Amino acid sequence: MIKVMFVCLGNICRSPMAEFFLKDLVRKQGLESEFYIESSATSYEEVGNDVHYGTVRKLNSVGIPVEHREAKRLSKSDYDKFDYILGMEESNIRNILRIVGQDNDNKVYRLLDFSDNPRDIADPWYTGNFDKTYEDILEGCKAFLEKVIS
Ligand code: 4NP
Repeated sequence: MIKVMFVCLGNICRSPMAEFFLKDLVRKQGLESEFYIESSATSYEEVGNDVHYGTVRKLNSVGIPVEHREAKRLSKSDYDKFDYILGMEESNIRNILRIVGQDNDNKVYRLLDFSDNPRDIADPWYTGNFDKTYEDILEGCKAFLEKVIS
């Protein structure tokens, strides 16, 4: 089983979008039993809050189910529990390393570093552009899945 933790700043916009997108993708590819997928935040800002309406609306518009969930913060012990800890942007990576310590097992990556065009995924909390976030997350998750199953 491959255990994946997506991480962003608040855990209400990008990382839950990536969590539900990848869960749907592995389900469609018959790989559901091979993966365990979660998401979390580097900050405490939104802990306990549900997924942002912009993420819910975007995922629902493309037929991807979204379950009720409560934002949670990444913990140091998550480093041992997961195989991949995937941040959305460079600042997430710095904050992830502050929480978990050194990445001795090479588990921490920026999601779009798996794509042909490595870059940050902008925060829709600030941009308001959930369509762009979705396109980036789709690109990153597809590239990540290809890499891990190859
Ligand atoms: P996310 O967006 O990191 O994609 O979940 C944010 C949501 C909330 C906040 C920051 C980013 N906030 O500061 O409350």
